[in-house]
Amino acid sequence: MAIEAGADGVEIHGANGYLIHQFLGANSNQRADEYGGSIANRIRFAIEVTQVVVEEIGSEHTGFRVSPLNLLGGVNEGEHAAELYHALVSQLNEFHLAYLHMMHVGHEDILNQVRLDWDGPLMVNRANRSLEKLTVDLDNHVADLVSVGNYALANPDLVARLKNKIPLNKPNPETIYVNNGAVGYTDYPTAD
Ligand SMILES: Cc1cc2nc3c(=O)[nH]c(=O)nc-3n(C[C@H](O)[C@H](O)[C@H](O)COP(=O)(O)O)c2cc1C
Repeated sequence: MAIEAGADGVEIHGANGYLIHQFLGANSNQRADEYGGSIANRIRFAIEVTQVVVEEIGSEHTGFRVSPLNLLGGVNEGEHAAELYHALVSQLNEFHLAYLHMMHVGHEDILNQVRLDWDGPLMVNRANRSLEKLTVDLDNHVADLVSVGNYALANPDLVARLKNKIPLNKPNPETIYVNNGAVGYTDYPTAD
């Protein structure tokens, strides 16, 4: 439906405590069938979802998001997290997706391992980095591209501001992730 509506692609959400991440979690996945228990079983749902999305819209229109050891919703991949992401990323390679998107909350060893394991373009979202560090993962050749959340929300003209070195609006944490209608979502001013 997104492609029919004109989107260029779809990102499969394997991150941040949502359903696919719950299958990856050692604590959240309580299944005793072929979708639970071993690492191979816990990644099975992610791979099967990717398979059907790729069949539907093509690998060049499909991305995948992960958030290793970001404990949102209490989901925890456990002590073998690095092994799990090694297995997941290795299998995702076979689809030749448009990109892999990693929300990075500080586990540098896993980020470095994902960089080595992943054959395609890697997008890194180093959460809550300062403006000065916006491109740190590009500069260090860890990422092929970076994504921006809060700054983009607070600055509808973010690209123009960055290009022209115009100071950024600060995101207001009190209006993020709450149901305020449009407040804090569509009312940040542009520089002009
Ligand atoms: C208003 C808002 C909504 C968000 N919604 C989601 C979401 O639905 N799923 C998700 O994985 N991350 C979501 N995020 C998190 C961002 O994708 C990003 O990982 C996070 O903001 C850290 O990156 P940043 O420091 O560049 O903002 C949201 C962020 C903001 C500011």
